[in-house]
Amino acid sequence: MTKWSPNSWRNKPISQVPAYPDPAALAEVEARMATYPPLVFAGEARKLKKALAAVANGEGFLLQGGDCAESFAEHGADNIRDFFRVFLQMAVVLTFAGAQPVVKVGRIAGQFAKPRSSPTEEKDGVVLDSYRGDIINGIEFTEASRTPDPARQEMAYRQSAATLNLLRAFAQGGYANLENVHKWMVSFISDSPQAERYRALADRITETMDFMRAIGITADTHPSLRETDFYTSHEALLLGYEEALTRIDSTTGDWYATSGHMIWIGDRTRQPDHAHVEYCRGVKNPLGLKCGPSLEPETLIRLIDILNPQNEPGRLTLIARFGAEKVADHLPKLIRAVEKEGRKVVWSCDPMHGNTISLNGYKTRPFDRILSEVQTFFDVHRAEGTHPGGIHIEMTGKNVTECTGGARAISADDLSNRYHTHCDPRLNADQALELAFLVAELLKKDAAAHSEKRAAAAV
Ligand code: TRP
Ligand code: MN
Repeated sequence: MTKWSPNSWRNKPISQVPAYPDPAALAEVEARMATYPPLVFAGEARKLKKALAAVANGEGFLLQGGDCAESFAEHGADNIRDFFRVFLQMAVVLTFAGAQPVVKVGRIAGQFAKPRSSPTEEKDGVVLDSYRGDIINGIEFTEASRTPDPARQEMAYRQSAATLNLLRAFAQGGYANLENVHKWMVSFISDSPQAERYRALADRITETMDFMRAIGITADTHPSLRETDFYTSHEALLLGYEEALTRIDSTTGDWYATSGHMIWIGDRTRQPDHAHVEYCRGVKNPLGLKCGPSLEPETLIRLIDILNPQNEPGRLTLIARFGAEKVADHLPKLIRAVEKEGRKVVWSCDPMHGNTISLNGYKTRPFDRILSEVQTFFDVHRAEGTHPGGIHIEMTGKNVTECTGGARAISADDLSNRYHTHCDPRLNADQALELAFLVAELLKKDAAAHSEKRAAAAV
């Protein structure tokens, strides 16, 4: 293999590249960004890798979620807080009801660039560049807005820094204290069936905390009760931006992507000899790899060879996104190949991207198909004897109507009410919480099956 450097991807074939009209302006922005402070510290990425290594070894569960695409227009404290509180609710449901440590990774503070199925979009006879995410161009259908503008990369960097700053404050500064479990409830879901279930669970946690306080264990004496480790992630799609934020960690001499703790490679850009794989192989961060229906077992093993040659647990998370109907056909052969070769990976389920349909002119996702893919993912792992290690979802803390179904039964006609996404349809707070309860049930069953097996083996 040729020598890696932060810019060695530039010698490889690449897809999904925006056509910047002024390459000199782009180079100028990239050079400036290369002097900016890193957004994350390498030690944090290592800590996340360690947590994911435990998941790869069957202990723990990865919760990864956030917007399909972050936007400049919706950057505000309320949005971040609403996302974070639903995320905490999901985490607490999974930790308590699922009885597993939960690794918390937001799809946030850097999730701006979007791969598109077509480079152009046509409306009423007018053809313009497709929207590629706020870090590249604007969503508005005008020539000016759709022209890639390098200055947007600095906006994305600054927005990511501000978002990360608030998230760190929430995670470490008291908001995530388990004494606040009741306060994370979002008001618009307070009368939903999920809210009932959540309140019951929160009551039990509060009771447990009261008991612990009585015996001398408090958030003051045990910081783990009042703080949580929250990490950021995004698709490493816009490689010029990633390159500019790639730094050597002075404590180890290794290269890290400092645009976020974890980065992933999309299903459209995972060709083993292409640019995105080349960039990712050289940085030491935990990596995700999206696995869709066209991925053959041999290619997967080849990709693992490139991305995780030392077979380091926690380095690689395989994010399966097949669709409810296809997952049972495709996942087992990938799992078998990985097991046969003895590769250590985290298996995560993205039940969103294989279940997108068109309804009334809206891109949507039926909630029952999302649940069904998650359910089948767990069934397959049970049958193969492997660990269902996580979920990867598109969600928001807002009361949107983008995915149909759920306990409040959003219908095709409801979609137009609050369809706000800049890209793919997201679970709203209610649906996200409902999904968390389902996954917690599945995790509990999984744990029960394992302890039965252990007991049988002991006899
Ligand atoms: N620190 C523990 C953890 O992150 C417990 C915890 C504190 C927690 N606040 C939380 C768990 C919020 C879930 C949600 O797991
Ligand atoms: Mn998406």
